[in-house]
Amino acid sequence: MNVLSVVGARPQFVKAAAVSQQLRGAHDELLVHTGQHYDPELSEVFFEELALPEPAFHLGVGSDSHATQTAEMMLELERIVDDESPDVVLVYGDTNSTLAAALVAAKSSTQLAHVEAGLRSYDWSMPEEVNRRLTDHCSDILFAPGQHAKETLAQEGISENVFVSGDVMYDTLVQISDRLHGTETGLDVPDEYVLATVHRAKNTDDRDRLESIIDAFSQLHVPVVFPAHPRTVTALQEYGLWDRATEAARVIDPVTYGQFITLVEDAVCVATDSGGVQKEAFYLDTPCVTLRETTEWVETVDAGWNTLVGAETSRIVDAVRTAVDPPAKPELYGNGNAAARIVEQLERSVH
Ligand code: UD1
Ligand code: UDP
Repeated sequence: MNVLSVVGARPQFVKAAAVSQQLRGAHDELLVHTGQHYDPELSEVFFEELALPEPAFHLGVGSDSHATQTAEMMLELERIVDDESPDVVLVYGDTNSTLAAALVAAKSSTQLAHVEAGLRSYDWSMPEEVNRRLTDHCSDILFAPGQHAKETLAQEGISENVFVSGDVMYDTLVQISDRLHGTETGLDVPDEYVLATVHRAKNTDDRDRLESIIDAFSQLHVPVVFPAHPRTVTALQEYGLWDRATEAARVIDPVTYGQFITLVEDAVCVATDSGGVQKEAFYLDTPCVTLRETTEWVETVDAGWNTLVGAETSRIVDAVRTAVDPPAKPELYGNGNAAARIVEQLERSVH
């Protein structure tokens, strides 16, 4: 089987690491890096730490408007798909890199497989919701992380070739946790802290929301450790909020995956608008306060491990102050063998 895997942004490197490992040896995988993320701390460090193969193609598209970024990826991807004639194009999650590859595959005669299919926040103002919906509706093979996502797809009329695989991010997490066991992050953080990440457009493109989140950090009862995405640093500086942010939280550069996982595990609570981090908090038994009105990872909320608070200062402060570990933790997204399931199913479904 010839697989063309397309990645471009930080969370996709974490997801692809698990599947790529399973593919190697038995199959031919060509990895495409679109270049959506290009700063070393958002890209290169993940390739090194997670032993991802060197990309066969690096498109180097960089940052731009949605239309320009997506179109530039598509131009390059179309040429690669034409030249390489893969048996299947494999995409992850809900970024512009995902959508670009999905559209190209759908308009060629190549099968398209989507990992993390069937997730919905039902918030169309988030670019990720657009990307994931369109990608699902272009896909030939859909890997849902849980039963709920499979049912969501059925409600939208997609019921063929949908497979519940579990979450590949959990696979990667299990592997790194084994490797990390007992090691220190090397970061200077307090004994007790809240770990925060903020980068979604809804929070960073809106000064009021970002300010409200920073105000919440300044009112918390424990210090906040805040590895900031470059987008957020730029926004804080543009809005004149940088000094307030650095007073309210220990703002640091993005950290490596291993460091981040250790920070999540040791935090009293996570406050985030990330998709992946909501799940990682759940896997690592750390309560999560999500700085959004909606989430696609609804099971974490239903299980009591995740609270949706949006960007309002008092709601964030209250939720973090009262965050506790719920009494029980169900198995939501598999047991760490999602990548193996995905590769086995691809072997059956790809022709
Ligand atoms: C993207 C995804 C988002 C995902 C996130 C993971 C889309 C629409 N968004 O958001 O779903 O949660 O990645 O982190 O695909 N920048 C840098 N260096 C980089 C990359 C970006 O400084 O290496 C800055 C640039 O100013 C850029 C901004 O971040 O304009 C936004 O980058 P972009 O890739 O468009 O979206 P993300 O916010 O990273
Ligand atoms: N992550 C990391 N270092 C950081 C922040 C996040 O390694 O400083 C990892 C995190 O463990 C998770 C992934 O990046 O695996 C999540 O990416 P992000 O929050 O940027 O994207 P989203 O999941 O929201 O699409």
